[in-house]
Amino acid sequence: MARANHFGVGLFFVGSVAAMAWATASSAPVARPWMNMSLSPDQRAALVLKAMTQDEKFRLIRADFGQPSQGRAMPSGALTSAGYLPALARLGLPALQETDAGLGVAKADKSGGATSLPSGLATAASFDPQIAYAGGAMIGGEARKKGFNVMLVGGVDLERDPRNGRNFEYAGEDPLLAGTIAGNAVRGVQDQKVIATVKHYALNALETGRNTLSAQIDEPAARESDLLAFEIAIGIGHPGSVMCAYNRFNAVYACENDWLLNSVLKRDWGYPGYVMSDWGAVHSAGKSALAGLDQESAGEVFDPAVYFDQPLRAAIASGEVPQSRVDDMVRRILRSMFAVGVIDQPAKAAPIDFAADGEVALRAEEAGAVLLRNEHGLLPLSGSLKSIALIGGHADKGVLSGGGSSVVYPPAGNAVPGMSPDGWPGPRVYQPSAPLEAISRRLPGKVQFNDGHDTAAATQLASHADVAVVFVEQWDAESFDRPNMVLPDNQDALVTAVAKANPHTIVVLENNGPVNMPWLDQTSAVLEAWYPGARGGEAITRLLFGEVAPSGRLPLTWPKDESQLPRAQIPGAGLASIGVPPQGQPADTVDYRIEGADVGYRWFQRQNIEPLFPFGYGLTYTNFGYSKLQAKWENGKLTVAFDVTNRGTRDGIDVPQIYLTLPGEKHTRRLAGWSRITLKKGATQHVEIIADPHILAEFDATEKNWRRPGGSYHIQLGHSATSFESDTSVDLPAATFSARRSHASP
Ligand code: BGC
Repeated sequence: MARANHFGVGLFFVGSVAAMAWATASSAPVARPWMNMSLSPDQRAALVLKAMTQDEKFRLIRADFGQPSQGRAMPSGALTSAGYLPALARLGLPALQETDAGLGVAKADKSGGATSLPSGLATAASFDPQIAYAGGAMIGGEARKKGFNVMLVGGVDLERDPRNGRNFEYAGEDPLLAGTIAGNAVRGVQDQKVIATVKHYALNALETGRNTLSAQIDEPAARESDLLAFEIAIGIGHPGSVMCAYNRFNAVYACENDWLLNSVLKRDWGYPGYVMSDWGAVHSAGKSALAGLDQESAGEVFDPAVYFDQPLRAAIASGEVPQSRVDDMVRRILRSMFAVGVIDQPAKAAPIDFAADGEVALRAEEAGAVLLRNEHGLLPLSGSLKSIALIGGHADKGVLSGGGSSVVYPPAGNAVPGMSPDGWPGPRVYQPSAPLEAISRRLPGKVQFNDGHDTAAATQLASHADVAVVFVEQWDAESFDRPNMVLPDNQDALVTAVAKANPHTIVVLENNGPVNMPWLDQTSAVLEAWYPGARGGEAITRLLFGEVAPSGRLPLTWPKDESQLPRAQIPGAGLASIGVPPQGQPADTVDYRIEGADVGYRWFQRQNIEPLFPFGYGLTYTNFGYSKLQAKWENGKLTVAFDVTNRGTRDGIDVPQIYLTLPGEKHTRRLAGWSRITLKKGATQHVEIIADPHILAEFDATEKNWRRPGGSYHIQLGHSATSFESDTSVDLPAATFSARRSHASP
């Protein structure tokens, strides 16, 4: 209820307090000048801060675990989720209800389930910011309708190793692509008035030993790779929060790393929001506070102590930490709450339209599945096939999800309950979108299924069918990495046997990412479906039958095998409960100086080695040609223009890509821009791409600034990071930019 005071400014009094509010020293209603929406988020945050008691401030800088755990009851008012901060009713501040994660509302099994997007890698493979935005808006909308106002979404750690168990939560190996995709997902979430949290800052590139290992990297390499992905994501999405990682970064834990948090994030990038810790990532009170951590997450369960309570109060009393630092933490949290809208438009329970949300997941998978192989045009499948054998991968029940904190429980329940592991990071969840059902609808009475456990029976079935489709799966999850790229459970032998029995064998991969494919040459077609999401079976079917054209492009390089990687081994990788026992102890340090900023395709170029499939690669049912490439430097912008022609006999979608090499010997090429265009058969379209300015510079470690070297920039226009149709060069003048080159406020 608003009343005007004699200053003419709205004063706000709230009579009824939010349920489950945390009791404060004073229960008298207070004037709430911060509810004046014409003030800026900074002004509003400053006004609240002035009215707060020290206890109220301390209540806002630590979250409780939002579910029962280790004999502790669930905090009253929490929603069975990752984190919970009670409302400060006296001040009119709502509770902060935090839920995972990037693919949808996690742990929602007790609240009716939620819609799962496909893997983050699928969204990245769409190369489509709008697909990323739509996915963010969908999952943010579901979060809001379930009463959440903070979503731990925005995974942007670069893929430096295909064995990393969490690649499916991230957006691939390239900083510009990953930052663009994650930034747009964040925008989508926050437009639903839900604070998003880019994570895990920074270089949490492996799960093995993540709580202790130190990621070693030089400053320019970090600034031009993983930090650049964060910088771009933050610049696009303006997330209310950034989550600091478990690992150490150059020997110092990420959540007490003054350089990462204060110098880079808050000073150089001008980041105005708050840094929350990962669950169990805090190791100190004073050191973390001074380094720039603003909020401790679930310390009572995951950290050795609740550092941001008594220990931090003691650090203030002793003078180790100034009171102004606590005030800054609180101001940052409040500022994000105002900026994103969680105070003005509080989350409210509302029914979810699962059919509509499922469509969003369907579109993301359709745009993100990557056709890796299609010999003799076997695909698209014809509706007049007489028989088709489906084999393996639980294709009769559903499609696989990755595991850990991000797993989304479908409203209809897990389609394949009871698979190992029972405990964390399980259970293994299947989305109930069965390829068998979707394919049978296209070919009634002509589809037979074999679960693939008995290779002889599967082969027998395949040998009598027009076409065999083998679904292979690789369940990966948060908390472990695979020691190698081998498909589990002897599935290589299954594919090899089926391909031998039927010359028209198609493989559909439901996996975290690149695996060895010893059988590749024997197959007719391979579709990388990633973890396909809530409507995965339908999306796969539509792609196989050509109802939609495949248009995904690999957001990562697909190595032939582990020997091509910067680090052939991951000491300690594995997970005993899925039958992959770890060999040895995790390393204390991981040396990312080996590849530095030359991640993925840039590493392959530097080493002069051929991957199995390059970054940016993906087939479709037509083909595209490029012509009339031109590049010009004008008004401080590098514009690249060309024509794209659909040279085939079907309509399709193309993703022409621009790669650029800075002058000088030492540089590898970098993705500088792309366009995703839909073209009718025979049609030509003129395209203009402005090279992203972040890509036109290198970081100078001595001067601590960005330098655009003067000279000739080589520009390549291609279908992938290794397949180019034309190239040109353009001269750019030298320039330097401050390290403080970005970012305005939300
Ligand atoms: C993960 C985070 C997640 C958090 C809360 C941690 O284990 O690393 O990504 O948001 O748990 O569930």
